[in-house]
Amino acid sequence: MKIIGTGSAVPKKVVTNDMLSEFLDTNDEWITTRTGIHNRHLLTEENLLDLAIEASKNAIASSGVAPKDIDLIICSNVANNYITPSMSTMVEGEIGCECPCIDMNVACAGFIYALDYAEAYFIARGARNILVLCAEEPTRFLNWKQRENSVLFGDGAGAVVLTRGNDMLGSRLRAVSNKEVIIYRKRMEPTPYEVEGVNIDAPLYMNGREVFRMAVKSSQQDLQYVLEHAGVDPLNVEYYLLHQANQRIIDAIQEGMRLPKKKFPSIIGEYGNTSSASIPILLDMMHRNGELHSGDLLAMSAFGAGFVSAAALIRWSK
Ligand code: ACO
Repeated sequence: MKIIGTGSAVPKKVVTNDMLSEFLDTNDEWITTRTGIHNRHLLTEENLLDLAIEASKNAIASSGVAPKDIDLIICSNVANNYITPSMSTMVEGEIGCECPCIDMNVACAGFIYALDYAEAYFIARGARNILVLCAEEPTRFLNWKQRENSVLFGDGAGAVVLTRGNDMLGSRLRAVSNKEVIIYRKRMEPTPYEVEGVNIDAPLYMNGREVFRMAVKSSQQDLQYVLEHAGVDPLNVEYYLLHQANQRIIDAIQEGMRLPKKKFPSIIGEYGNTSSASIPILLDMMHRNGELHSGDLLAMSAFGAGFVSAAALIRWSK
């Protein structure tokens, strides 16, 4: 595969750390030093589908491909208020595509998983062009009376259009079953046979310290694996595009790999953790700012609930 278009969309509403401290026992200093987050964008009058459509349209416009020439839409989404139909099918009708659509839930690692699946679909099915979309509203999973998680997340969507090419130089997908570290449960419609206590609502719970530890370890291992297998010196990678979970996680990975900080771009300060949308939003912003040059090697790494992790090494050749 080869990336030929990028797009993103974020909600208009900007929520600062000071705004959170108006109703939570928290403050700008705690949030900034622990996470690097200053602002996050939250859905208010828009809904997630609006962002998903806008990001997809931007990516398609940037690619120059006609919507009818897209042969597959893959949408990474953890949850939204439509259980069915899927986000990808709802987007398809709004952007003029006529193709198979599939949603995947791989938490924050969804973008890299989707790129890998797209690569396999190009090989196995001879697809011409594929739209990979990540649309996430993690701020709707939270108990906003609890400070631990409410300060970390933001909403957003990012998308890429892929065509046939040889820019995927390596990837690694992993999953280790663990529902202790990050979990979010939603109550289903009750049946007459329901047993009390089984069908429950439980907003996002996260063991922050454990996630931090697992994220740093898995990311370093995954990146090392793809670089070694591709025979690429880590210093020859132009940028490491990491899941924007927390600036301290990004810094710990960078320091552990003994690489220059300038190779690890970050948008977490403005957008918070937008789950699987964070890497495609970052990629789109760098593309639009002229920061990517043909021939650049880009390494990506993400991790999240599952516990899942993934990394990919790609060549940017647009
Ligand atoms: N404001 C002020 N104080 C707070 C806040 C807050 N928002 N949240 C927690 N605290 C308090 C705690 O209650 C605790 O107080 P105590 O010592 O009196 O008990 C104290 O601050 C320290 O809490 P820690 O958990 O030790 O803080 P830590 O330095 O570990 O930072 C954090 C917490 C930011 C959550 C960190 O563990 C982290 O970044 N973890 C990774 C989270 C992450 O990236 N998740 C995304 C994964 S991807 C996915 O799929 C969701």
